Amino acid sequence: MTAPQRLQVALGERSYDIVIGTTVMAEAGTLMRPVLKSQRVVVITDSNVAGLHLARLQRALDDAGLSHDSIVVPPGDGSKSLDQLGRLIGQLLDRKVERSTTLVALGGGVIGDLAGFAAAVTLRGLDFVQVPTSLLAQVDSSVGGKTGINAPQGKNLIGAFHQPRLVLADTSILTTLPRREMLAGYAEVVKYGLIRDPGFFHWLEAHGADLVQGERAELQHAVLESCRAKAAEVAADERERGQRALLNLGHTFGHALEAEPGYGDKLLHGEAVAVGMVMAFDLSVQRGHCPPEDADRVRRHLAAVGLPTGFADLAPRHWDVERLIVHMGRDMKVSGGRITFVLVRGIGDAYLDATVEADELRALLTGALNDADQLARENDSAGLTSRAILGS
Ligand code: GLY
Repeated sequence: MTAPQRLQVALGERSYDIVIGTTVMAEAGTLMRPVLKSQRVVVITDSNVAGLHLARLQRALDDAGLSHDSIVVPPGDGSKSLDQLGRLIGQLLDRKVERSTTLVALGGGVIGDLAGFAAAVTLRGLDFVQVPTSLLAQVDSSVGGKTGINAPQGKNLIGAFHQPRLVLADTSILTTLPRREMLAGYAEVVKYGLIRDPGFFHWLEAHGADLVQGERAELQHAVLESCRAKAAEVAADERERGQRALLNLGHTFGHALEAEPGYGDKLLHGEAVAVGMVMAFDLSVQRGHCPPEDADRVRRHLAAVGLPTGFADLAPRHWDVERLIVHMGRDMKVSGGRITFVLVRGIGDAYLDATVEADELRALLTGALNDADQLARENDSAGLTSRAILGS
């Protein structure tokens, strides 16, 4: 058992705590009581998470004498839609929620984003508490107040900044995550080391393999350090006018890979971010800003834990450079027609750069695809199966 640790996201009157520990779910009612405006909460979760964790959360709410009901939505990114949002708001209004009712988002990133956005717009704004149940949600999406849904034109294009009143991260529930989901969340953990904290990256090189196997002490440390890093960026730049954008390392490439038609949910967000971070390092090397040894170290570590690092690890092999560049141009990080990339001077030294030209992207992506083709040919002629670890 690990004693809960508390961090603060310092945002003036919108400040809130992140509580991280192995008994947090059992104590959830008591922990959230001080931030509630009334005794009433509505839990929003999905049918997968409900089966695993809802009963335990409901017991904790009973123990604290809170009145509660629950709304269960379908699992998956498809729930981040206008249709589902409309249904959810209708269910909240049917239950006669009041301005003093607090919503509780119990689940991964999809539930946090959807429930948080419903909280932002229902009755012109309800309080909400995040109870993240995936590694990705505990280290990234539950902290910082980005809420929203997808539009037909792209991911997360409809949303609001709406900070939670509390984040309750129970690291004991991560030990049962499917390996692939753990790895996808781990990519976002690595991101914090790569942005600003070479010491943390070094620690991950030594402990990352244990962490993704579900070792509790390593998970607790990684969630704590990731939330500490995220809280600092959010406190400094809540609305992403500048430095918060560093948290998007690997995301412009990653979103383009995710957006490829036909790929569906075969590529998880964290997997796309892992490949995207390697591409951001390679682009930085190509521009002469980053030592190639650092890019190799990142690639080696991600591959060592089992994450994809390039096209060779992805299937099917029908990537089109021009289409990927078009997807990047649709990203939210475009201003005046230019994409702001997160580039690096080395491990732990990321910066924003809006001067990348399409030809540089073309050269990078074409080179990466040629390398993957070459590897596939070598494997074929050696009678080996493809290195592709995803989507097969
Ligand atoms: N996931 C990046 C951010 O919250 O800013």
